[in-house]
Amino acid sequence: MERTNLNIGLFGFGCVGFGLYEVLHKTPSLKAQISKICVKNKGKQRPISADHFTFDKNDILLNNDINVVVELIDDADAAFEIVSAAIKSGKAVVTANKKMIAEHFEELLLLQQQYDVPLLYEAACCASIPIIRNLEEYYDNDLLESVEGIVNGSTNYILTKTFAENLSYAEALKQAQEKGYAESNPTLDTGGFDAKYKLQILLAHAFGIKTVPADIFNYGIDNIGELELKYAKEKGLKIKLVAQAFKTADNKIAAFVLPKFVDDKNKLYQVDDVFNGVVTKTCFADTQFFVGKGAGAYPTASAVISDISALSYNYKYEYKKLQQQQGLELDNTVLLNIFLRHKKEEALLLTTYFESIDESYLNNESGYISGTISLENLKEVIAINKESISAVLHDVAVTANIKTELTALLQEVALN
Ligand code: HSE
Repeated sequence: MERTNLNIGLFGFGCVGFGLYEVLHKTPSLKAQISKICVKNKGKQRPISADHFTFDKNDILLNNDINVVVELIDDADAAFEIVSAAIKSGKAVVTANKKMIAEHFEELLLLQQQYDVPLLYEAACCASIPIIRNLEEYYDNDLLESVEGIVNGSTNYILTKTFAENLSYAEALKQAQEKGYAESNPTLDTGGFDAKYKLQILLAHAFGIKTVPADIFNYGIDNIGELELKYAKEKGLKIKLVAQAFKTADNKIAAFVLPKFVDDKNKLYQVDDVFNGVVTKTCFADTQFFVGKGAGAYPTASAVISDISALSYNYKYEYKKLQQQQGLELDNTVLLNIFLRHKKEEALLLTTYFESIDESYLNNESGYISGTISLENLKEVIAINKESISAVLHDVAVTANIKTELTALLQEVALN
C-alpha cells in the first residue's frame, strides 16, 4: 500500500505521545499529521485543544482515512488489542511498547505476514539508538557473535546518580520518574524486566531467535547494596545493568540481564545517566559501539518519527535472521564469574552452588563470594534467597577456575 500521505491515529498522550506531537510539528519535511488521539482518562487536563482527542478507539480503528496507527500507551495487553486490530484493518503500525512485543512476538509476526502490513518498533529498543534497523539492514550477512548493552535508561540513571553523586536509591528513582524515564511500574525497570524485553527484540533481529519473557533470565538492580558499591569503587569499576546475548562454543546463544562490573576499558564504562550503549561484535567488522539517549520524551519520539518516515517509503522489517534460519538455540549452561553478596549464615550453603571460588569475604553480618557459577545455579540461588543476596556479574567465564581451599576455610569460619 502506498503511504505518501501519512494520516496518523495516535493512541496515548503521555510523555512520549506529547513529545511526538511536538517533534512532528518541528519536522515539516515529513508529510505526516496526527488526525486523532485516543486517550483513556477523561478528566485529565491536556496541553492541546480537546478537539484532538477521542475516548473511543474505534474513532481511529474504523476510520478509513487513517492509514497509520502509532501506539504509545502503557498497558501492554490493551496495546496488543489495538495493534492487532489496526494490522487487521490494514493500517501500518508504529509502537514503542517493548513489553507487548516481547510477550506477543510470534503472534505479531504472523499478523504482519497474514495482512502484509508493516509493524515498526525502533523506539521500543534503546529509544534514540537505531539498533533494530542496523541489525536488520547493516548486519544482514556479517555474522554476529554478540550483542551487549545498557538498554534501560532509568536504571543507568539511578546507578550513575547513586554511584557518582551518592544520591539515595529512592531519590534517584524519583528523579528518573519525574524526568519521564521510568515505566509507570518502575519495578519493570529496576528488576531488569524492561531490559529483558528489549533483549528479546535484539535476539530476534540479531540471531533470529523467537522467545517469550520466561525464556530469558533477568536480574535487576533493586538489591545492590553498600558492599558491592564499595567493592566496585575500591577496584575502579562501575556497576551497569547489562543485557547480553552471545554465541557459545557449541554454537548456541546465551542471553541474560544482570548487573555487571565494568572497568574503564569497557565501552559501556562511559555510558552514564540516561544514555544507553550497545556493543556489537561480528566476524568481520569486529567491535562496534552505538550510544544515545535511551529514554525520555524527545529521544523516544525521534525513533517514532524515524519509523513513521520509513513507512512513507514502504519500509518493513524482513526479519532477515529469522528467514536465514540459522537454527540457533538458547543455552542456559553457560558459566559466569559472579560476585554474590549474602548474609553471613548463608555462606556455606551458597559455596556449594559454585564451580570454583576466587575470593570470599565475611564480616559479622554479611559477606561475598566471587567465583564461577553456572547460569542455571545462579537462577536457583536467586530464586531461593531472593531478599538476602545480591549478584553482580564480573564476566562470562572462559575457562573453569581451579577450586580453592576456600570452602574448607568458610566451613571453619562458620563453625567458630
Ligand atoms: N523505562 C524505559 C527506560 C523507557 O528507562 O529505558 C525507555 O524504553
